[in-house]
Amino acid sequence: MKKRKISNICCIGAGYVGGPTMAVLADNNPKLKVTVVDINKQKIDLWNSKDLKYLPIYEPGLAKVISRNRDVNLFFSYNVSESIAEADMVFISVNTPTKKKGFGAGFASDLKWVESSARQVAKYSRGHTIVVEKSTLPVKTAQTIKTILQACEVKCEDINKNKSFSILSNPEFLAEGTAINDLQNPDRVLIGGDDNNAIKLLKEIYLNWVEDYKILTTDLWSSELSKLISNAFLAQRISSINSISALCEATQSNINNVAKAVGMDKRIGPFFLEAGPGFGGSCFKKDISNLIYICNHYGLSEVASYWEKVILINQWQQKRISKIIVEKLFGNLSEKKIAILGFAFKSNTNDTRESPAISICKDLLEEGCFLSIYDPKVKKEQIDRELKLINTLESDFDNEKHYWEKSKNINEACDNSDAIVILTNWEEFLNLDFKKMQSIMKSPSWIFDTRNMVELSQAERYGFNIWKLGDGF
Ligand code: UDX
Ligand code: UDX
Repeated sequence: MKKRKISNICCIGAGYVGGPTMAVLADNNPKLKVTVVDINKQKIDLWNSKDLKYLPIYEPGLAKVISRNRDVNLFFSYNVSESIAEADMVFISVNTPTKKKGFGAGFASDLKWVESSARQVAKYSRGHTIVVEKSTLPVKTAQTIKTILQACEVKCEDINKNKSFSILSNPEFLAEGTAINDLQNPDRVLIGGDDNNAIKLLKEIYLNWVEDYKILTTDLWSSELSKLISNAFLAQRISSINSISALCEATQSNINNVAKAVGMDKRIGPFFLEAGPGFGGSCFKKDISNLIYICNHYGLSEVASYWEKVILINQWQQKRISKIIVEKLFGNLSEKKIAILGFAFKSNTNDTRESPAISICKDLLEEGCFLSIYDPKVKKEQIDRELKLINTLESDFDNEKHYWEKSKNINEACDNSDAIVILTNWEEFLNLDFKKMQSIMKSPSWIFDTRNMVELSQAERYGFNIWKLGDGF
């Protein structure tokens, strides 16, 4: 069956990708009705909250787009069945975490949410529906979705002759913290599929704000694989520069100078060469793990172990930082207080998934110190969930004792502490008030700067001991 035009869109999954993506899509397509649905009722209520500061995710510029379009042509709802039934096009933007158990545990993606979404589409859709994979998925997932939907096409033939489907892959390349700008001005939009009419209809939606030459169309598998490989290449650059940060520390050179000189070569380019505590976020580790799984599946063990190293260096970088902190503080953290500046995996987001802060904080807590954690956007309950000190089987932590606190601001975190560790590149950490900090911290006071934010001479002037990542001087 051929569709002529799209007037009603449903997106399953109102998360970090689904929410902002649909907001920008609705903003640029005023004639389209866009409904974002989620099984999490509380999340939908937050998306609908009158006061935009309660939106479930923090993303610069998002509140403005929401306020322009919400309840005009953009809706947030938990009525999944009705929204699917009304839609000409359904985006699947549910989470695809790494499997925790069973075959492929630790590597393969858990596709249970994608499968259940496909089953919901199969059940509730009417007429011809274009199903668009937005979630990052292992190569050939579209085949799974196709099989589920096609089974329904056959089954439903007697009851509803008009039920049919086209599947497209349209991976999202937005980065958190810059999502609205990335969506508004994408480097490229990728559409994979084998139904030219469906591709044309999705392309028309993007053409309302994206130039034609930026919209690439491919086959389904190439599109799915391109998303995985883009993330793998980005992560690989970070592991490369992080590995060299250790070499710089050992050889009296400076990682910023090296990155600048290397990045000025047009063939290499300056982006994604900032050394830091390792990459976090929901995508990089998950997608590389998945790539490793796929390579092993196809018998390409050398390729798999090449990519495995990207993850290993990332873990090593985090451990390396924890060890340096312990060593510099005389090998003993008990009875010490350490201020942690930043818990989100990067600036301008409240997301903490795979944040390097999690493993570094856990390492420090294991050594017996007390942490005062400050992050401008991450809530206390979120940190609590990530650190999960209590109730883990092997944990020596005591239910009754407090091991960390959430501080309201930088000064409160620094008060009476022995050291501060900068873990997230929030802009406000660029202008620390060293004079004030020195007056309220214990002596000798240390700054561990894993994000290269501190002006060394300034901090030294006020008597701080400083360790800067990748600085061997
Ligand atoms: C997305 C992608 O979908 C993922 O594949 C990619 O790698 C990272 O980005 P993200 O938007 O960050 O995930 O995930 P999350 O913020 O967890 O949002 C997913 C939403 O889907 C959640 O709100 C969850 O409640 C919802 N969901 C999940 C459904 O509505 N239905 C389901 O069946 C499962
Ligand atoms: C990433 C991809 O950039 C995006 O295209 C994809 O759609 C989802 O995954 P995201 O994880 O949101 O986006 O953020 P990104 O800016 O890529 O940062 C990921 C991690 O790498 C962060 O922890 C960040 O601090 C770190 N990073 C990034 C570095 O350590 N150095 C850099 O030079 C760049």
